[in-house]
Amino acid sequence: MPSSAENPRQIAILNRGPSQPYFWTSRLSRVESQQRAEELRDLIRHHNAAYHLNDSPEIPDAEYDALVRELTQIEAEHPELITPDSPTQEVGGPVSVLFAPVEHSVRMMSLDNVFSDEELLGWSQRVQRGLDLSEDAPPITFMVELKIDGVACSLRYEKGELVQAATRGNGRVGEDITANVRGIAAIPHSIGPAAPDVLEVRGEVYLPVSTFDALNESQEAAGLPRYANPRNTAAGSLRQKDAAVTAGRGLAFWSYQLGQIEGGPDLSTQSEALDWLGELGFPVNPERKVVNGIEQVTELTDAWLANRHDLDYDIDGAVVKVNSLARQRSLGSTSKAPRWAIAVKFPPEERTTKLLDIQVSIGRTGKATPFAVLEPVFVGGSTVQMATLHNDDQVRLKDVRPGDTVTVRKAGDVIPEVLGPVLSDRDPASEPWLFPTHCPVCSHELVRPETEAHTFCVNPLCPAQQQARLEYFAGRGAMDIDGFGERTVRTFVAEGLISDIGDIYFIDWDRASELEGFGEITIENLKRSIEATKERPLASLLVGLGVRHLGPSAAEVLSSHFGHIDRIVEASADEIAAIDGVGPKIASVVAEYFQSDVSKVLLEKFRAAGLNLKGPEVIDIPKTLEGKAVVVTGGLEGFSRTGAADAIKARGGKSPGSVSKKTFAVVLGNEPGASKLNKAEELGIPMIDEAAFVQLLETGELPT
Ligand code: IVH
Repeated sequence: MPSSAENPRQIAILNRGPSQPYFWTSRLSRVESQQRAEELRDLIRHHNAAYHLNDSPEIPDAEYDALVRELTQIEAEHPELITPDSPTQEVGGPVSVLFAPVEHSVRMMSLDNVFSDEELLGWSQRVQRGLDLSEDAPPITFMVELKIDGVACSLRYEKGELVQAATRGNGRVGEDITANVRGIAAIPHSIGPAAPDVLEVRGEVYLPVSTFDALNESQEAAGLPRYANPRNTAAGSLRQKDAAVTAGRGLAFWSYQLGQIEGGPDLSTQSEALDWLGELGFPVNPERKVVNGIEQVTELTDAWLANRHDLDYDIDGAVVKVNSLARQRSLGSTSKAPRWAIAVKFPPEERTTKLLDIQVSIGRTGKATPFAVLEPVFVGGSTVQMATLHNDDQVRLKDVRPGDTVTVRKAGDVIPEVLGPVLSDRDPASEPWLFPTHCPVCSHELVRPETEAHTFCVNPLCPAQQQARLEYFAGRGAMDIDGFGERTVRTFVAEGLISDIGDIYFIDWDRASELEGFGEITIENLKRSIEATKERPLASLLVGLGVRHLGPSAAEVLSSHFGHIDRIVEASADEIAAIDGVGPKIASVVAEYFQSDVSKVLLEKFRAAGLNLKGPEVIDIPKTLEGKAVVVTGGLEGFSRTGAADAIKARGGKSPGSVSKKTFAVVLGNEPGASKLNKAEELGIPMIDEAAFVQLLETGELPT
């Protein structure tokens, strides 16, 4: 089992004890609230990138939702802490540079979530109040739809022809995926002469579960790793550089919303809009219903929750929309989501099963992670046989014992979790499980440092660590050696062809080609993939070393600061810790690592093999805004909200969330915030537009 939580952010969340609720009421002081809000924003941004950019979420949806809810709650209690770049003020995540940007003519909004009947009722009451209906007004009807767990997509038709398809991106700007979408059979290329001049159809691209299962079967047959779940596979398949790959994946589409429309029939309700889309030839999910009161919504969602796995696509809840389009317009939207719609999220699924055993896996850093071996159980859309137990403390806290019946939860289809034992089923003779004292692989003693929550195998020659280090080095986050996966590593290690990551560049290919399963083509491909890694950026090599805590962002900082691996080797822990963006913890492990004999041997192998050991040319951005605070309010054309703040900070400035007398200038974008505008006016702070902002970044001066 891979150690799934090597990432410290992930550990911070996953190590939540079983007694802590999913989200909690914040009763923090203002300073604590500010610190926690910043921490949450960083975490949420990190997980946004993992989900939207890398199609590879690290935590279950429910955990992500809990982070957003906690931040929203802090911001509701302390509105002065809201920053314009807070994830609560923005939709989705960063936009990849792989695809051309597409500006949405009508913003692609997100949805607010509710998790209980009470919260749903609260939303319907807000709708009721927001509409301020007269006594004789017709009652509110709602359209209830399934919430498809796929990738939001906007399709633009002009004069009946599909001209553009885009992802949601940050809601204002998405990615141009037209070529890829043309390969999805369910999406019409042409909708006939009766179509309106302009029609934007929004919906969800998804991968049918049956197609996903078939894809995984062929992956397995080819000895390749299985895909995690249909949503991530759909996202990855859609955002391929090669449109032919997308076309071969069997993606499908459900339409659920109109974007821009010019011409077309008079539509007065969401249900009419969906019926009309169906008539035009768009796939519209048949599982939809107009209801007269919010009570009926719960009946529908309960039934869908019970039968969700009967469908050939994943759903993660229901979406309730005010049916009347006039009422939708009158309710309007917040900066992020419409007030007229709400997502009713399904609770994470739970099942009970037998805990057959608790074993310990050894990761690349030697970390010993206990995991549960379970009697296979179908939960959260797939069969679970293993679940991480994180560390010794977690096992003790949960007091799960081999032989117990345990409750397993799989939220968001990502990481299964053992919640705890069913005590009534426990064998009275059972004993608490004890963490092993010795490594299950190399029998070396296991050590738990005093300040650590984890236990480690400290034998650098432990075969499990070697295997994990080699896989990590060759993995996508590091040197990305195509075809050099778990099986190849295992075989090559077993055959004595490699033992450390430096050996990858000195493989005896004649011997390798004698091995079963390594024909001429496989060997040639492997050689080519390995050769290609010699040009990889220094940061990828640094990540690939597998040093604990040294992740991609610290590796980037080190490689551009020092410019060559030899400079890093020479640097002391203090020198490294003094660099902005590197904490003292990373600094001390990096310095210690480069003093070790193991690292010296590796470095000589890399040098002899001709690997790139140089960092990028350092572009020194002039510090034009040193000490100046520039507040940005409203949307800018050329910058995302975080992008604008980053540009200010990169030039030595600050980008606070509110205007004060110390503010140097306020940049006004589209729909600027009224409070910032008023404050700037009151204090006489210069207000500038985007063009002047660009000039300000360059020169540090305001236009005269
Ligand atoms: S309506 C302005 N309807 O859920 C409202 N969204 O978590 C736009 N989704 O971004 C969305 N099924 O990707 C709507 N029946 C449905 C949906 C749906 C899935 C997705 C969509 C949206 C996300 C919000």
